[in-house]
Amino acid sequence: MLKTTAKALVCAISLTVAGFVQADPVVIKFAHVVADNTPKGQGALMFKKLAEERLPGKVKVEVYPNSSLFGDGKEMEALLIGDVQLLAPSLAKFEHYSKSMQIYDLPFLFDDLAAADRFQSSPQGKALLTSMEDKNITGLAYWHNGTKQLSANKPLREPSDARGLKFRVQASAVLDEQFKAVRANPRKMSFAEVYQGLQTGVVNGTENTWSNYESQKVHEVQKYMTESDHGLIDYMVITNTKFWKGLPDDVRSELEAIMAEVTVEVNRQADELNQKAKQAIAAAGTTEIIELTPEQRAKWREAMQPVWKKFENEIGVDLIKAAEASNQR
Ligand code: LMR
Repeated sequence: MLKTTAKALVCAISLTVAGFVQADPVVIKFAHVVADNTPKGQGALMFKKLAEERLPGKVKVEVYPNSSLFGDGKEMEALLIGDVQLLAPSLAKFEHYSKSMQIYDLPFLFDDLAAADRFQSSPQGKALLTSMEDKNITGLAYWHNGTKQLSANKPLREPSDARGLKFRVQASAVLDEQFKAVRANPRKMSFAEVYQGLQTGVVNGTENTWSNYESQKVHEVQKYMTESDHGLIDYMVITNTKFWKGLPDDVRSELEAIMAEVTVEVNRQADELNQKAKQAIAAAGTTEIIELTPEQRAKWREAMQPVWKKFENEIGVDLIKAAEASNQR
């Protein structure tokens, strides 16, 4: 009896020394709505790989792409009640939590992704990451997708071509107004419903990035895409503030370092993934890609610009000025 107890004790000690007996790993569920082969999809997988490599046994990351755990509409609530720990919603999906975040939907705000980058890393851009902490939401990073292109079953060259069309929009008052400004009919719809919405004619146009179009096969149900680069689809990687602050210090600081590393890589690859997706759409032969002349693009800008005025009080004039200033190198 004594022998057996001593044996069990030795065994327990050696297991502990060998590190086999330890607390269960922290499970981090990372849910998103897009495919794995997009900038955000790749970022989520990279984060999982590095977190599990560098924090073995301490952290397990489960990635749920394609709205397979939560889609638009449900994911924020899920984050707040602790059913998911990481999300990366498009910047268009934060208006209920911060009116300032609406800045990112203003049409023709940034000249290019480099300008968006400069704003996001400015003091004003960084302040938005922590602007929702009173609502228990902490922003950990900005990730790029890219600029938006228009799509429809008729060629869109001039703003008047959009008149009367039904456009799917993300849940954003600014985007709603953007399409009303060209006398089109916006309709809010979750990302998972876009393909079917276009296929059945519930909507007949939309706006998104090349990588989202290609990975959702939107080109199968849209005859024309216009390279308008009229706005931005980027993301904020967010977590539940209480959950994040409750992590052991060493785990949290390692995860933050990994997030910073992944962010550099996502932002480096995003444009490349979008250009590849554009080529794949062109090669599919289903969809004509329309390039705008500078004059045509100027007309879209002029038609959509009044939207800025409508939201400047909610967003803040100074914030808009700071974002505009990021267009100057
Ligand atoms: C959309 O709803 O169109 C996008 O926000 C999807 C995404 O996350 O890129």
